[in-house]
Amino acid sequence: MHLATILFASVLSGATFALDNGLMRIPPMGWLAWERFRCDIDCEHDPKNCISEKLFIDMADRLSEDGWRELGYVYVNIDDCWSSMERDEKGRLQADPKRFPGGIPKLARYMHDRGLKLGIYGDMGTHTCGGYPGTSLDKIETDAQTFADWEVDMFKFDGCYSNATEQELGYPLMSKALNATGRPIGYSCSWPAYHGGLPPKVNYTQLGKICNLWRNYGDIEDSWDSVLSIIDWFFGNQDVLIPAAGPGRWNDPDMLIVGDFGLSMDQSRSQMALWAIMAAPLFMSNDLRTISSGARKILQNKMAIFINQDPMGIQGRRIIKEKSAIEVFWRPLSNNASALVFFSRRTDMPYRYQTSLSKLNYTTGSYKIFDVFTETALVLKDSTDFVVSVNPTGVVMWYVSAPAKLSLRQLFKSGQPQGPNFHGDENDIPHIFL
Ligand SMILES: *[C@@H]1O[C@H](CO)[C@@H](O)[C@H](O)[C@H]1NC(C)=O
Ligand SMILES: *[C@@H]1O[C@H](CO)[C@@H](O)[C@H](O)[C@H]1NC(C)=O
Ligand SMILES: *[C@@H]1O[C@H](CO)[C@@H](O)[C@H](O)[C@H]1NC(C)=O
Ligand SMILES: *[C@@H]1O[C@H](CO)[C@@H](O)[C@H](O)[C@H]1NC(C)=O
Ligand SMILES: *[C@@H]1O[C@H](CO)[C@@H](O)[C@H](O)[C@H]1NC(C)=O
Repeated sequence: MHLATILFASVLSGATFALDNGLMRIPPMGWLAWERFRCDIDCEHDPKNCISEKLFIDMADRLSEDGWRELGYVYVNIDDCWSSMERDEKGRLQADPKRFPGGIPKLARYMHDRGLKLGIYGDMGTHTCGGYPGTSLDKIETDAQTFADWEVDMFKFDGCYSNATEQELGYPLMSKALNATGRPIGYSCSWPAYHGGLPPKVNYTQLGKICNLWRNYGDIEDSWDSVLSIIDWFFGNQDVLIPAAGPGRWNDPDMLIVGDFGLSMDQSRSQMALWAIMAAPLFMSNDLRTISSGARKILQNKMAIFINQDPMGIQGRRIIKEKSAIEVFWRPLSNNASALVFFSRRTDMPYRYQTSLSKLNYTTGSYKIFDVFTETALVLKDSTDFVVSVNPTGVVMWYVSAPAKLSLRQLFKSGQPQGPNFHGDENDIPHIFL
């Protein structure tokens, strides 16, 4: 398929319906406790890392003092294991009073005072995955109202301990119940991840109308194997997933583990780059108190974030899988720009990959290229062959501008442009992707 056709198809299907709460028109960014801190509730022996008020306050302090908030990382999200084992006398969920002495409202105020937002977790079912009280169908309205009363800004609804029938009722009901509270609350649904993430079991048209984001696939772990399996699943199923995404409705390949223990610097850049190509929510799960400057630099890369946050919200795709184990990914961006990622699955040494923009189906013209991680710029004509050196398990990522106008003489030299990308009625200027 020609890239222009792909873009057109994405715009038609993606922009149609989104949950009407006005939220998350660009992928949400922030921090989420799960991957790094799990269900550590042993505050007696591990006070620094246990799931407690202190952990979320520490992260909020880091987000607001270390330059994260200004880049868009504003959500501070609690995951499982925050609550008491019992609901209160009125049947409402309550935070564990030992670990959250001020309760959730105190945390919400702490976030809001700093220009941050608070997210919380629940589970459609009898229990959460960690064994805490779940939200069965009869508790949906109560729990939605409780979160709204606490001034929570986002809610992740997991799906342990419920069956398909209950989920089919529960996920849309929760969407309605959140809306009925009158408080805009971003809604993250784990529903598709419990059904293999693909049609016919999963209906992405419906999901887009009721959820702002959804987990399609299994939980990320702190390893390159895990990141690679997620990359393979999401791009292997891109024809189904790309049309599901758009402003207000996002596929969620799960947390960024950059800054943890499992990834090299090259692998960290790969995760950041491909999450940006996928228009993925960017929730870090790491320890911002001790993160290395290398990991921080990757997560705070302005160009990668800019690409991730593109307002058109079109999820990118893998366009080439070479026998050499180099893969090329592409995402259309606003202003007729685009992003390219050259990714190496090799495990031997840096590979010198040769191609040209015209081989990647870019239309005739001269392009300004910004290398996202080396922060260097170059100018390339579509026809010029170039070489990128891609490290094993690493990436080279480019922001590619709209093509500069070619002069008539250049146009004449390059001959008559061909194909659907050339529209003779627009000043005879070749252009890309529209
Ligand atoms: C470029 O377009 C041609 C013709 O539509 C198609 O066969 C080819 O796969 C495309 N290449 C890329 C990299 O998208
Ligand atoms: C609730 O849904 C209505 C109709 O779709 C929408 O206009 C409104 O903004 C929503 N309110 C909230 C708080 O999500
Ligand atoms: C799903 O769970 C509900 C509540 O436990 C039960 O009534 C229903 O029979 C179950 N449905 C299926 C298909 O297992
Ligand atoms: C998917 O959901 C949409 C919107 O809710 C609905 O119109 C459509 O019929 C559903 N598709 C299938 C195959 O169930
Ligand atoms: C993008 O390209 C199209 C087609 O050449 C053009 O009509 C449009 O003005 C361009 N948009 C921007 C923002 O440059």
